[in-house]
Amino acid sequence: MNKAIAIIKDEHISISSVLKGLVSHVSDARSGNREVDPHLIGAQLDYIEAYPERLHHPKEDRYLFRKLRERTAESHAILDQLEAEHVRSRALVGEMRAHLKALRETGNLEAFARSMEDYATFHYQHMRTEERLLLPMAERCLTDEDWEEITAAFESNTGQEW
Ligand SMILES: [Fe+2]
Repeated sequence: MNKAIAIIKDEHISISSVLKGLVSHVSDARSGNREVDPHLIGAQLDYIEAYPERLHHPKEDRYLFRKLRERTAESHAILDQLEAEHVRSRALVGEMRAHLKALRETGNLEAFARSMEDYATFHYQHMRTEERLLLPMAERCLTDEDWEEITAAFESNTGQEW
């Protein structure tokens, strides 16, 4: 596996583990096994905004997706879909933020829980599409030079600060 792909997959694992923590926190709170902790949920949303939304998706858009779009028309339909999903992802995070605010003000967990489920389901599916369809196509179609540039971009910020 080339280095950029290894970094992207590692980043997906980091994102998945935070999502998993968020989902299990909310499901435990829903079933009465723990008190909901809006402060912890806020910190988990901070990570989601700072990392997948501001770093990971933009790096994919600017480097991996752009290069692949230039190299092969075969990629255009899937890239159109994934780029639209990056936009939708930001909107879904905005909805979670709004529902977290309501949770803090009114204690209503259900609306937040539903928006979180929408985001988690959506984002797992998004990462699966990237790993099953996009990355294998990129491995086939991109040149060594393309990968050098993409790897440099992904190495410049690996999320280790988290
Ligand atoms: Fe990704």
